Amino acid sequence: MKFLITGASGQLGRGWQRNLEGQTTNEFIALNRQELDICNPKSIRKVFTEYKPDVCINTAAYTHVDKAEKEYDQAYKGNVLGPQLLAEACAHRGIQLVHYSTDYVFSGKLSDRDIYNDGYPEEAPTDPVNQYGASKLAGEKAVVSALPSALIVRVSWLSGIEGNNFVKAIINRANSLGKLSVVNDQYGVPCFVPDIVDQSLFLIQNKHVGIYHLGSKGCISWYDFAEKIIEYSNLNVPIEVVESSRFPTQAKRPHFSKLSTSKLEATGIAIHSWEIGCKTLVSELIKA
Ligand SMILES: NC(=O)c1ccc[n+]([C@@H]2O[C@H](COP(=O)([O-])OP(=O)(O)OC[C@H]3O[C@@H](n4cnc5c(N)ncnc54)[C@H](OP(=O)(O)O)[C@@H]3O)[C@@H](O)[C@H]2O)c1
Repeated sequence: MKFLITGASGQLGRGWQRNLEGQTTNEFIALNRQELDICNPKSIRKVFTEYKPDVCINTAAYTHVDKAEKEYDQAYKGNVLGPQLLAEACAHRGIQLVHYSTDYVFSGKLSDRDIYNDGYPEEAPTDPVNQYGASKLAGEKAVVSALPSALIVRVSWLSGIEGNNFVKAIINRANSLGKLSVVNDQYGVPCFVPDIVDQSLFLIQNKHVGIYHLGSKGCISWYDFAEKIIEYSNLNVPIEVVESSRFPTQAKRPHFSKLSTSKLEATGIAIHSWEIGCKTLVSELIKA
């Protein structure tokens, strides 16, 4: 299969390249924003015509959650217009599209934890609480409308060896400050880039389409996550428990955003707990 990866400099884009580099049965091209701007129809047409991919993996996105409150036009462009143009081009040429979305499409009310104790299923009502989530939800709708057979993959709390993420931030802050303050009133499940790529590949190879929630098993707070990162890093630093109201941010965050992986597991794929992904990533970061 021939894969085209957009957003090649991003965390997930780089994870996809790592995975495909080790394969002999698949070939790929990975393009960053300068090489393929997903908001530029000419640029899409040129790449699609020259490379003729079987599958387009859209990891490109506007991901600045706080800035999106003020830069809604830019968020909308990257998260709605770009995905829509890709979906239209894929529909025109018979290319499969895999488009990434987010747990932030849900409202994340703490009371939803009682309703959805296995996490939000794919069909749960969406109701984003910030502009980033609103733009990603509008992007999902634009993709489905242009290409009903697209695969839309929602992930949450993503971390990998490359890019900026919570795991790296905790290790860096622990090393530089010698202490941490982490919120314990927002719950979700960490996802790790290698798992997301493997699960996405499984869905592609088995021709699944529609919306899927990917990730790991479990449901924790950011505090629980930080505690494990510190334990696995053998860093002996105190962690103060704080409420999110102590760290006001431009954009509201969901208090509960666990995504249920039941639909994914029903396809036959085995999913491991978030601790396994966390331990693997921390040991890779320490070695790097
Ligand atoms: N990170 C998370 O915790 C998380 C959680 C849930 C869902 N997701 C979703 O997962 C996907 C991947 O996220 P990520 O963590 O890999 O994000 P990331 O590291 O911010 O990477 C996104 C990449 O997209 C590029 N990009 C932005 N606009 C573009 C455009 N118009 N054309 C081409 N490239 C463009 C960015 O380039 P520049 O650097 O030049 O802007 C960046 O390299 C996204 O759909 C995101 O919404 C992420």
